[in-house]
Amino acid sequence: MRRIISERQEELPPSMLGKLLSVSHAPGMVSLGPGEPDFTPQPHILAAAKRALTEKQTRYTSPQGTPELRDAVVRKLLKENKIRTTADNVLITNGATEGILLTLMATIDPGEGVLLPDPSFLAYKPAVEVLSGTPLMVRLRETDGFQLTWEDLERAILPEKTNVLILNTPGNPTGVVFSKKVLEEIADFAVEYDLLIVADEVYEKFVYANQKHISIGSLNGMQNRVVTINSFSKTYGMPGFRVGYLTGPEKFINSMTKLHIFSSICAGSVSQAAALAALRGPQKAIPRIVRDYDKRRKEMVRRVNTMPGLRCREPGGAFYVFVNCSKIAKHSYPFAQNLLTKAKVAVVPGIEFGRGGEGFIRLSYATAPQLIRKGLDRMEDFLMRRRT
Ligand SMILES: Cc1ncc(COP(=O)(O)O)c(C=O)c1O
Repeated sequence: MRRIISERQEELPPSMLGKLLSVSHAPGMVSLGPGEPDFTPQPHILAAAKRALTEKQTRYTSPQGTPELRDAVVRKLLKENKIRTTADNVLITNGATEGILLTLMATIDPGEGVLLPDPSFLAYKPAVEVLSGTPLMVRLRETDGFQLTWEDLERAILPEKTNVLILNTPGNPTGVVFSKKVLEEIADFAVEYDLLIVADEVYEKFVYANQKHISIGSLNGMQNRVVTINSFSKTYGMPGFRVGYLTGPEKFINSMTKLHIFSSICAGSVSQAAALAALRGPQKAIPRIVRDYDKRRKEMVRRVNTMPGLRCREPGGAFYVFVNCSKIAKHSYPFAQNLLTKAKVAVVPGIEFGRGGEGFIRLSYATAPQLIRKGLDRMEDFLMRRRT
């Protein structure tokens, strides 16, 4: 048979994460791998979804999203993110993942460069590659606290060929929260090189200690240069609803809406009803969950730093601890595989997030405290046995 699978698809790297996750739910396994929260949506969110079904809200919505939800997003962005926008400049998407893909589809042509933090969320690079763009990896260094620096951006950029810089704060997998100073420097860099910034802020609520999330789209003069992407998946514990949103300059939103019509027409009607209830309803569960996650974060950091050969910084955000294992394992994949088969703990090898993640493993604390403890106990036992 002649070749039917596209070369573009064949060139995508196989996901090691997929392989690991497929065995991580086997009986007896403890998974410290999840990239989704372990809490379920608040009852009023589920009730809104049920109501939407009872009322047979089963038709396509407006491709940009229901007017009510877009209005609620506009109010939220102004109140919480200090981003001024209008309902015409908001697009409701099938999660942030679709938002990222649509933004790249609307902005890059084959061969054009996209600056990506390295390590970063594992969908960015394949999204650039599937569009025949050129990923330009910008190292995030542990020694800089995983903050982006002008020098590293300058080292990575191909000035004549680069349109877009993807930014993720709070960050997956490092847990970094970019400081105002760093964001201002990145904003200056974007102006200097005439770049569009794609700000993925899905972990915005998960910030700890004295950290503060700042939206780069709220900085002076950035309104025409930033597409802000967000999601209901993490904040409201509803990743399976597949609903998110983005806002940005009108010309980009128009072009993304056109692409969105061809890719999925609209986000799910029931999911949009649930998302509306999430934004309109009480928000008091969020700080409670964040306090709870903060306790888990502290315990995980403390425990990891007592284990032989491992060390980690205290992450300021998201729900991951990015653990340096380079002293005992230069390559994170075989190390993660060993933890899986010999200690029965699933973690994500840092290499999944880019070459800059090699020598690290990602542990998630978005799982029940007793499972976190069990997983950490098993890791500790495994490392102690290795030593003797
Ligand atoms: C940084 C980042 N962006 C986006 C997503 C995906 O979000 P969504 O469920 O809204 O597609 C994830 C999921 O892990 C993520 O870590």
